[in-house]
Amino acid sequence: MSAENAQHAEATNGTDRIRTDVAHNARVWNFWLGGKDNYPVDRAVGEQVVEMFPGIGEVARADRAFLGRAVSHLVGDVGIRQLLDIGTGLPTGDNTHEVAQRLAPEARVVYVDNDPIVLTHAHALLTSSPEGVTTYIDEDARNARRIIETAAETLDFTRPVAVMLLGILNFIPDTEECRGIVRTLMDAVPSGSYLVLTHPTLDADVGGAGNQPAMDFWNANATPPITGRTRAEFLSFMEGLELLEPGVESCSRWRFPEADPVPQFGAVARKP
Ligand SMILES: C[S@@+](CC[C@H](N)C(=O)[O-])C[C@H]1O[C@@H](n2cnc3c(N)ncnc32)[C@H](O)[C@@H]1O
Repeated sequence: MSAENAQHAEATNGTDRIRTDVAHNARVWNFWLGGKDNYPVDRAVGEQVVEMFPGIGEVARADRAFLGRAVSHLVGDVGIRQLLDIGTGLPTGDNTHEVAQRLAPEARVVYVDNDPIVLTHAHALLTSSPEGVTTYIDEDARNARRIIETAAETLDFTRPVAVMLLGILNFIPDTEECRGIVRTLMDAVPSGSYLVLTHPTLDADVGGAGNQPAMDFWNANATPPITGRTRAEFLSFMEGLELLEPGVESCSRWRFPEADPVPQFGAVARKP
């Protein structure tokens, strides 16, 4: 790890903030993805959610596959070289910098998450190619201005940035607050930048109708609380931006129309 890549990870290793008595989203998401970075409490809640909503593992895998397709398009086809991935999650296969730097080794990636378990594993995200950079910021998405200030040590905000919020706005219950976060982030980046979003839904046309009991169970037993949103609410996060084809889709089907839908929307939009 270079000094630059390490700059935000050394302050605290996060272990003193980890709670093993309550399930945490980053760890349960890791469990659904088949990872080992989780505790018994996470597996117990994760298994119960699977019982109530058997498609959850498919949602998690589809979300990661969407990440791969979206980042590949933005870096490989559009020429984006800077990515700000907020709500990173625990390291897994094909993390954002790995997808990006495979196509453009000079790509610069800033990861942000507020879960201490992600901080303790951040070293696995700080494995940049020598030509590029990866850094990690331990911060809450609600502090969007502070994220921009810290990310500016790594990213040049006069040049296009892909702002990624995958599976995270659903942990901010107030829809207007989500819009404010997205606005703050997108106001900080220049024309030609992109917003990449995924978000769970209860909308029936993508299979979300049976999802409410599992979300209620989650909210009674795990943290942070989750909120599903409609297609219209999801679309409202991209107000003022130009949606790339195919628009708002189930993330499994975004540029992969042969897939079955999952109740998680995905979209990519360009700042004009
Ligand atoms: C469902 S996981 C998604 C991980 C990754 N983006 C993906 O798509 O695979 C959501 C992540 O968002 C993080 N998160 C939730 N609320 C957050 C907040 N207010 N600020 C920063 N990170 C947050 C969680 O810790 C977790 O790692």
